[in-house]
Amino acid sequence: MSDIERTFVMVKPDAVKRRLIGEIISRLEKVGLRIVAMRMLQLTKAMADEHYAIHKDKPFFDGLVKFISSGPVVAMVVEGKDAVKRVRKLAGATKPMEAEVGTMRGDLAMEIGRNIVHAADSPENAKIEYSIYFKESDFVKNPMLDEDWVYE
Ligand code: RTP
Ligand code: MG
Repeated sequence: MSDIERTFVMVKPDAVKRRLIGEIISRLEKVGLRIVAMRMLQLTKAMADEHYAIHKDKPFFDGLVKFISSGPVVAMVVEGKDAVKRVRKLAGATKPMEAEVGTMRGDLAMEIGRNIVHAADSPENAKIEYSIYFKESDFVKNPMLDEDWVYE
């Protein structure tokens, strides 16, 4: 299927501390997305700089890097139909006050600097981001056996 793509998702340190890893993964799974690579780690300052390189000139960059490297995170590559847009939609708007009820941030996040989950904003950026954390041999190889029940 040509519209099957990969995106990069990270459960941020606030969500790990608040025991929301399962909740976040569950919401991804429930719409038929699948995890094809996953690891738990604490980012070094260098990894955090690279992860958010796109924001390096923004006033909030230093705080963002400090926060994302402040505790363990769960990094994962998620695959599925229109995965980038789908996960962004499930995550909700950056500012929790503007995120729709029903989205992860709308239901669970409290403020912009503690918005529980990161989701890549394009397939190209997803690849740049997940390449910081994963090599090709980290990815699962086999399709899921129930794929016929997920996509027509
Ligand atoms: P993310 O990259 O974490 O998935 O979030 P996003 O695409 O919704 O938002 P983005 O514009 O990429 O910003 C990255 C993260 O920086 C923090 N931020 N703070 N204080 C501020 O004005 C501000 N703006 C952004 C947020 O934590 C946001 O998730
Ligand atoms: Mg972003």
